[in-house]
Amino acid sequence: MSPIDLSAAEELLRQAIRAREPAYAPYSGFSVGAALLDAHGSVHAGCNVENVSFGLTVCAERIAVFKAVSEGVRDFRAIAVVGPDDTAACAPCGSCRQVLAEFTPELAVVTPDGEGGVRIWSLAELLPAAFDRTDLQAGRPS
Ligand code: THU
Repeated sequence: MSPIDLSAAEELLRQAIRAREPAYAPYSGFSVGAALLDAHGSVHAGCNVENVSFGLTVCAERIAVFKAVSEGVRDFRAIAVVGPDDTAACAPCGSCRQVLAEFTPELAVVTPDGEGGVRIWSLAELLPAAFDRTDLQAGRPS
């Protein structure tokens, strides 16, 4: 069973579109919004924040996760992500997938499907064989 139903996924995507409004993307022109639904039903909004020193840019998804975690929330159900176009597919980057997997490896990831609807992914599907705690333990010298 999907951890989020279709109407909840559509609503979360609408919240990601609203979360995109304050995006600061003067260098790429590519504004991104993220809406992270936690296990209690609250939504944590994020947008990308760029910097003139390009490598300091932080993606919308990581802003949403770090806001939530810094407020004591670590249990998540789903995240919706949208780029500048409300309907174009926009999957989270690899770095954000790894950060999301730290807290919820089975997170549902909602994106536009490119045809006016939504697509619901599993994070495990987007980041198979993720580096995790078992790798950390196995790699330690005994
Ligand atoms: N970006 C995100 O916010 N999330 C992603 O998952 C992919 C990329 C942002 C970073 C940068 O500000 C802009 O999109 C172009 O890469």
